[in-house]
Amino acid sequence: MSTNEQEQDGAQQVSAVVVLAAGGGTRMKSNKSKLLHEVAGRSMLSYAVNAAEEVEPEHLVVVVGHRREQVLAHLSEIAPNVITAVQEEQNGTGHAVQCGLQGLGELRGEILVTYGDVPMLTGETLVELVKEHRAQKNHITVLTANVPDPFGYGRIIRDDFGAGSAGHGDQIARIVEQKDASPEEQAVTEINSGIYIFNAETLYEGLKHLKTDNAQGELYLTDVIGTARANQERVGAHMIDDLWQTEGVNDRVQLARMNAEMNRRIVEKWMKNGVTVQDPSSTWIHADVDLAQDVTLLAGTHLEGATSVATGAVIGPDTTLTSVEVGEDAQVVRTHGSFSVIGAGATVGPFSFLRPGTELGAKGKIGAFVETKNAQIGDGSKVPHLTYCGDARIGEGVNVGAGTIFANYDGTNKSVTHLGDNVFIGSNSVLVAPVDIADGAFVAAGSAVVEDVPAGGLAVARGRQAVKEGWVNNKRPNSKAAQSASKCPGEVHPDVAASREKMAKVKPEEYK
Ligand code: UD1
Ligand code: CA
Repeated sequence: MSTNEQEQDGAQQVSAVVVLAAGGGTRMKSNKSKLLHEVAGRSMLSYAVNAAEEVEPEHLVVVVGHRREQVLAHLSEIAPNVITAVQEEQNGTGHAVQCGLQGLGELRGEILVTYGDVPMLTGETLVELVKEHRAQKNHITVLTANVPDPFGYGRIIRDDFGAGSAGHGDQIARIVEQKDASPEEQAVTEINSGIYIFNAETLYEGLKHLKTDNAQGELYLTDVIGTARANQERVGAHMIDDLWQTEGVNDRVQLARMNAEMNRRIVEKWMKNGVTVQDPSSTWIHADVDLAQDVTLLAGTHLEGATSVATGAVIGPDTTLTSVEVGEDAQVVRTHGSFSVIGAGATVGPFSFLRPGTELGAKGKIGAFVETKNAQIGDGSKVPHLTYCGDARIGEGVNVGAGTIFANYDGTNKSVTHLGDNVFIGSNSVLVAPVDIADGAFVAAGSAVVEDVPAGGLAVARGRQAVKEGWVNNKRPNSKAAQSASKCPGEVHPDVAASREKMAKVKPEEYK
């Protein structure tokens, strides 16, 4: 049992984490800093910061350089508490760490160094690294991995290198970069991930002695190992099996690979938590999404941002939701939605477009070819077909007829339409905002409503029907229409007659 109090607490608490993020990222060929490119909906840098936070550093420093205005602006949004240090010129990883530590005074304890562009690296792995460092009583512990293709990486040269058992020596003698390595060294498959933990004194001492006498003319952080070993200090390795965690992203091919793997892991996590995923390969779930047990995701579903889905809900196929809250047992089919709320038991789609500020109540409906924006739609209310519904305040139990348009924009201003509880809007009406249609009121089909309708009132706002008998025969003699007209028995279609008869029983006054 360790006597270290921090370990007994289960707390890591290193003195500092330095996140190196000053590099150019030129291979991305982007106007945007490499660190701001996203994996599963989060910037690469945010993963590094989150992982770093899990070892509870007293100081969390991000070293910025290239495109630093962008990186600093982003950091102030996602992690306003981190300290930033500037590395004006990228003279190597050792120089970057020197820059990172400059403003912190003389630290004691342990300093962890990691990169801003290894999004798969987890906080758990860093915690393991700290534990291993303490357990081995090392002065430096390097996170290493055995990879099939080590090209480009620094190679781990162990003490027994050349003794016929390379890769098994207890301590690390040195790390040699690709460009500085001999053919024998290049054959080593154990690589430096670039992530390390150092005892502070060891790191300071090593940084003082760095030189640029190498193939790249840079100050190599890895050379700190030589100083430590010369001072009889222990340098150990912590090897991890999950190679993805050490992978950086340098171009957009790697970015896509990383996104695919991250997504595979996220989808698998949710399946293990009780989510049915019909087609994992076409399902994309961002890192910040939250799903309940017994959610079903059909093929082609993309859940982005801070989307959450409650139990029993079915999403898809072919649906993209960005920061949408979906209630229990709701169904969302072939829908594109963002910054919206879908109530419990509600149905949405197919072919619905929910823009920001849509709030659909419990058991409500937004149907086919309906676009909504800043629209509060109360419990049990339905907007089933072919409607634009913008800036709407809709009560409960409302029915909005097919083809209704909420005319919220006059070319200059946006205005609100209110529909009270149990209002009925006839098909193909245009509601010209601002307008208030009070509780229980009706609007006749085809109306253009420009004035308020009082509670329980009926608004009819359309031209009356005029019929000119024999018009076709007069104006279009011998046309197909005229021929059909001449053969017409002169009776209404039997199904219409049946409807009329039925309605006459239900509403005798209207159908006399
Ligand atoms: C470095 C390691 C190498 C390791 C590899 C893992 C050294 C000398 N070599 O390689 O052993 O296998 O990482 O990826 O440390 N950075 C700065 N400022 C600089 C230089 C780099 O902030 O002046 C940052 C970069 O933004 C990047 C990280 O450090 O996030 C690594 O830089 P990169 O050039 O990719 O790695 P190498 O130096 O080639
Ligand atoms: Ca380099």
